[in-house]
Amino acid sequence: MTSIDAPLAAPVIDVDPFSDDYILNPYPHHALLRDGGPVVRLKHWNVHATGRHEFVRAVLEDPETYCSGAGVGISNFKQEPPWRPPSMVLETDPPEHTRNRAVISRTLSPAALRSLRGRFETEANRLVESLVERGRIEAVKDLAEAFPLKVFADAVGVPETGRDYLIAYGNMVFNGMGPRNALYAKAMANAEEVSNWVWSACQRANLSPDGFGMQIYAAADTGILTDTECATLTRSFLSAGVDTTANAIGNALYCFAKNPEQWQALRKDPNLARAAFEEVMRYESPFQTFFRTTTKETVLGGITIPADEKIMLSLGAANRDPRQWSDPDSFNIGRSTLGHVGFGGGIHGCVGQMIARLELEMVLRALATRVSSIEIDGEPRHQPHNTLRGFETLPVRLLP
Ligand code: HEM
Repeated sequence: MTSIDAPLAAPVIDVDPFSDDYILNPYPHHALLRDGGPVVRLKHWNVHATGRHEFVRAVLEDPETYCSGAGVGISNFKQEPPWRPPSMVLETDPPEHTRNRAVISRTLSPAALRSLRGRFETEANRLVESLVERGRIEAVKDLAEAFPLKVFADAVGVPETGRDYLIAYGNMVFNGMGPRNALYAKAMANAEEVSNWVWSACQRANLSPDGFGMQIYAAADTGILTDTECATLTRSFLSAGVDTTANAIGNALYCFAKNPEQWQALRKDPNLARAAFEEVMRYESPFQTFFRTTTKETVLGGITIPADEKIMLSLGAANRDPRQWSDPDSFNIGRSTLGHVGFGGGIHGCVGQMIARLELEMVLRALATRVSSIEIDGEPRHQPHNTLRGFETLPVRLLP
């Protein structure tokens, strides 16, 4: 290697992914992140970051160099103990990760998904019909949260009373991946009560016999996992499976309200519901960031990253990288979204993505066959959040 192409240190840039301005409107900041270099260093937090699609993917696909066991948020578990016992899938590395993920994957078989389809469809139709009758709705509470709180929580088999705690828990888990800022403090305000409810819901005695939770316990019955490990794995469903889809549903409604011609295209052919959801995932990614930690000194895009360094992957920026997508800032359900990183990728790629797709397909189909137009009817507000992008409130009118 000549001195001309020797690896360089990352350029330092003044982009703060946890500032109010970035959180509420990330897109101009994403451009600075991508244009700052293949890999940059964020001045405010002293961590590396990449927002370019090519390098986000490269990191996701190289878990030996970029591990998850030191946490997938900004804090390094080796230096700062996590606020809860780490996830046995999201925050572990092989071989433990491989074993634990296999237990979850087994429960999410194609047959299991087929059996959910009818239940999801019936509930989506029932809920959407009642909302269309009302006309004006608060889409976050009435639809985006209500739907997964019913169908997904039923599928896992958690008790009906207290399910709102699941929204609070998702908030804790994903705000908890950011720095210890005001959003972190707010999300953790009721941490003990919320965590206690969730932990209790994950116990064998409190799960319904036919849900995913009890299927996880079947692994304990063969001696692969202890009961406590099964409860922790069941907890992964609950942390990762509610807030995420809720934000995706809210984002989908907003995208269609803002792009009525795309709504008409979906109405014309409701079979496009799945493709439309993939475009929502690309265009308004519910997960904006995940972090990894380097296991050794490495070079990425010609930039040297030292060992034991945090690197932020901006999934949101990668999903609108003009180096990857043509006209990335336009919402177009007819485009190819192949390769978007809204569900991550590599060995940690979202294990529940087929459930999320099924939920969104059913909601979008139910809407597309009953609603001629979705209109914003009030002041939508994005939720200030360290990791997720979605709405705090989204008043809309559904016209039959
Ligand atoms: C639209 C909704 C969803 C989005 C945007 C989403 C996004 C993601 C992303 C980006 C990752 C990768 C994390 C990483 O690389 O560190 C992930 C992992 C994960 N997701 Fe999802 N997810 C969604 C729905 C779900 C659902 C419904 C479930 C429950 C079945 C779920 C369970 C998980 C689990 C357990 C992991 C960890 C996988 C591993 O580390 O091997 N997700 N998700």
